[in-house]
Amino acid sequence: MDLPRVVFFGRTGSEALAFFNLDLETWRGGRVLDCPGGPGSFTALARTAGVESVATDPLYSLPLPDLERRCRDDIAFTMERLAVSPALRPDFDLSAFRQGKLKALETFLADRRRHPQAYRAAALPCLPFEAESFDLTISGHLLFCYSPIADGGLSDQPDFDLPWHRRALAELLRVTRREVRIYPAHTIERNPRVHPWVEPLLASLPPDWQGQLEPTTYDEGFTGETPMLLLRRRTGSR
Ligand SMILES: C[S@@+](CC[C@H](N)C(=O)[O-])C[C@H]1O[C@@H](n2cnc3c(N)ncnc32)[C@H](O)[C@@H]1O
Repeated sequence: MDLPRVVFFGRTGSEALAFFNLDLETWRGGRVLDCPGGPGSFTALARTAGVESVATDPLYSLPLPDLERRCRDDIAFTMERLAVSPALRPDFDLSAFRQGKLKALETFLADRRRHPQAYRAAALPCLPFEAESFDLTISGHLLFCYSPIADGGLSDQPDFDLPWHRRALAELLRVTRREVRIYPAHTIERNPRVHPWVEPLLASLPPDWQGQLEPTTYDEGFTGETPMLLLRRRTGSR
């Protein structure tokens, strides 16, 4: 499976809760950053649970009709690729997967119209936020996922190489007070392995951060373990 560009493709809030092992109740009253937010519905869901969420994505600079068109095109394009991908189990329900993306898009569009201030255009590795502005930062389907194919990702471009991952991770940690959660932390293939860059990134964490992999039960059509990377600021380090 390979993709020629980062697709503007989003998950529903409940899918995000599953792959980030998140219980929103724990974060009630807190502030969360979803980076990249894509056309996903996590931010809308979080608000209904009393959690302030800000979503950020470089494409949020585009007008809404352009975003909707881009997302619908990318869903169609990705589904064509997935339908012939040997990375997915034959029993995986692609039609339900597609419905989830369309549902996320509808919720995203409605929420973005009602709460435009919750959606900020920005790109890693430079975010326009003060240090430690968020209690929790979640980052789905960009890091590891879009590393080059030879390194276990989806990309046929070298843009998201290991030095980029180091800068992006440093930026996610900078803006976060307590926890950063990154999914996936595995390679994109039928039988995923822990992504080979997890270890070097963990080995060079700043001294006030610690990290570990956590299993998830989210099913995206792979076989076997699909871990999430959980990074925590050490208590007493501030
Ligand atoms: C596959 S989507 C993931 C969306 C959502 N987090 C999810 O898990 O479904 C990848 C997103 O990354 C965004 N993106 C591309 N380059 C980026 C960068 N340098 N920094 C932040 N986001 C980026 C794209 O615009 C796209 O919306």
